[in-house]
Amino acid sequence: QKITMLGVPMDLGQSRRGVDMGPSAIRYAGIVERLRKSGYEIEDAGNIEVSKSPGVKTPEEENLTNFAEVRDTSEKLAGRVSNILSNAHFPLILGGDHSIAIGSIAGASAHFEKMGVIWYDAHGDLNTAETSPSGNIHGMPLAVSLGRGHESLVNTYKAGAKIQPDQVVIIGARDLDAGEKSYISETGMLVFTMHEVDRLGLAEVMNRTIQHLKHCDGVHLSLDLDGLDPHDAPGVGTPVPGGMSYRESHLAMEILAEADIITSAEFVEVNPILDERNKTAEAAVALMGSLFGEKLK
Ligand code: ARG
Ligand code: MN
Ligand code: MN
Ligand code: MN
Repeated sequence: QKITMLGVPMDLGQSRRGVDMGPSAIRYAGIVERLRKSGYEIEDAGNIEVSKSPGVKTPEEENLTNFAEVRDTSEKLAGRVSNILSNAHFPLILGGDHSIAIGSIAGASAHFEKMGVIWYDAHGDLNTAETSPSGNIHGMPLAVSLGRGHESLVNTYKAGAKIQPDQVVIIGARDLDAGEKSYISETGMLVFTMHEVDRLGLAEVMNRTIQHLKHCDGVHLSLDLDGLDPHDAPGVGTPVPGGMSYRESHLAMEILAEADIITSAEFVEVNPILDERNKTAEAAVALMGSLFGEKLK
């Protein structure tokens, strides 16, 4: 299958500058060569434009920092992702902060009856403006995709929720806000916190994840590099100790490759300013190699 790679140099979904350079750092770490080695045809579609539009805030946009920019970029990205899938290519999205998942999920979900989402992250990103401790939209994209939050974010690309709670699996959570925890328990969404990862092992977590998404006809992987332990992925804006290791994360990607269920993917939150010699971008590239079945080729 052919892969189309698209960068989204977005850093307005959070407050640490530099994550807009994530796509470049991942390219310099050799993603194109790496995937070509495994026999893939990969085209680099470049970056989409992220523009800063200092507009007047309405009161309902309170606690949604850079609302207009995130909304406009999401809309643009959704269209691009949808086009890539229309051409029967695999969309590989490079972030940028995690707010871009609003657009990736909106665009990808249009191609499936029931699209699953694997959220590999230290965080739930299930906040709304009402529950967010920060006002940063990168803490909200999963909520938006589930139909919660400001309606013009929820209505990105097409109206309403793109996925239901039973189509989501969160892996690696260890920093959930109060509002996120109550939403998770209300919906019974499947969440493997680090407690479950430690107890079951990541192989079993992945098997259960795949089983849980059996009823889906496509699966989007949204991988936040802060899901990994900060020792292995230091270049992220909101690091949380006690995460999944580099090795465990490879195992997770290899199991997904064997199961052959992923239909689109994004790797987000690589911030070169905070990184150590591009270590986090290199981890991202290595994980993409495993996701695309390097070991099997
Ligand atoms: N829960 C926190 C917030 O809402 C942190 C979110 C971090 N999200 C991320 N994609 N790194 O601000
Ligand atoms: Mn083609
Ligand atoms: Mn995170
Ligand atoms: Mn995240």
